[in-house]
Amino acid sequence: MSDLTREKARAALQWLVECGADEAIGEAPVNRLARATPNHGPKTSPAINEAPVVRPHVTTPTKIETPTTASSEGIAAACQSLEQLRAALSTFDGCELKRHATNLVFADGNPSGGIMFIGEAPGADEDRQGLPFVGRAGQLLDRMLAAIGLDRQTVYITNIVNWRPPGNREPSPEEAAICLPFLYRHIELANPKLLVLLGAVPVRHLTGLQGILRHRGRWEIYRCPSSGREIPVMLTLHPAYLLRQPSAKRLAWQDLTAISRRAKSLGLA
Ligand code: URA
Repeated sequence: MSDLTREKARAALQWLVECGADEAIGEAPVNRLARATPNHGPKTSPAINEAPVVRPHVTTPTKIETPTTASSEGIAAACQSLEQLRAALSTFDGCELKRHATNLVFADGNPSGGIMFIGEAPGADEDRQGLPFVGRAGQLLDRMLAAIGLDRQTVYITNIVNWRPPGNREPSPEEAAICLPFLYRHIELANPKLLVLLGAVPVRHLTGLQGILRHRGRWEIYRCPSSGREIPVMLTLHPAYLLRQPSAKRLAWQDLTAISRRAKSLGLA
């Protein structure tokens, strides 16, 4: 706690209140999700209750070939830096979504931070500001990050598609297929040590797994299509879902603690 700023501490407390904590009952944090350990056993720090350990599902995304995806693939592959990738996307006209959007929404945060969060698609606020996760869901994401001592100086954030789908609908399979080669390259260039997928849509597109509630809380493996590099990926709930279903924040907290521990073990947080 000592190096948390007052603002981060306030955000972390606010997140705990939103999770349902309404009373401080002791100085030391208590993990109420930990499995009971016998009293006479050795003193260890309590294990956080995570989803059962299963063999991670390793995914190399499959390519959907259309003339436009072939062109987005070629353009993305030629980019040698994040700046080049952003510039290439800003002049790319192959995605219909761009016709309705105000701004390209490329990314926010620190690409060198080692942790990359991937959401679904920009909404109205993101479209106006040209930045991901700046609306209500984004503010909740900020509080979730603050609760584990992270923020936009330490993580990197982007989406499956880079323009807002009209009416905030889910990106169509074609729109996603056109943007995905850019995302694959984005991941390769940012080179994170951990990926976090927010909600069912990025989980479906990057791991092929259907349904977030069945799969959340698990570490899977994302294999970069070109380099073959393998990156641990946590599947978790989308903050917009948590705004609609506050009771699910309890599950999100389990995932956040798992992310925090993994990040700490890699020296990232
Ligand atoms: N929801 C998302 O998935 N991404 C954003 O950038 C904003 C809301």
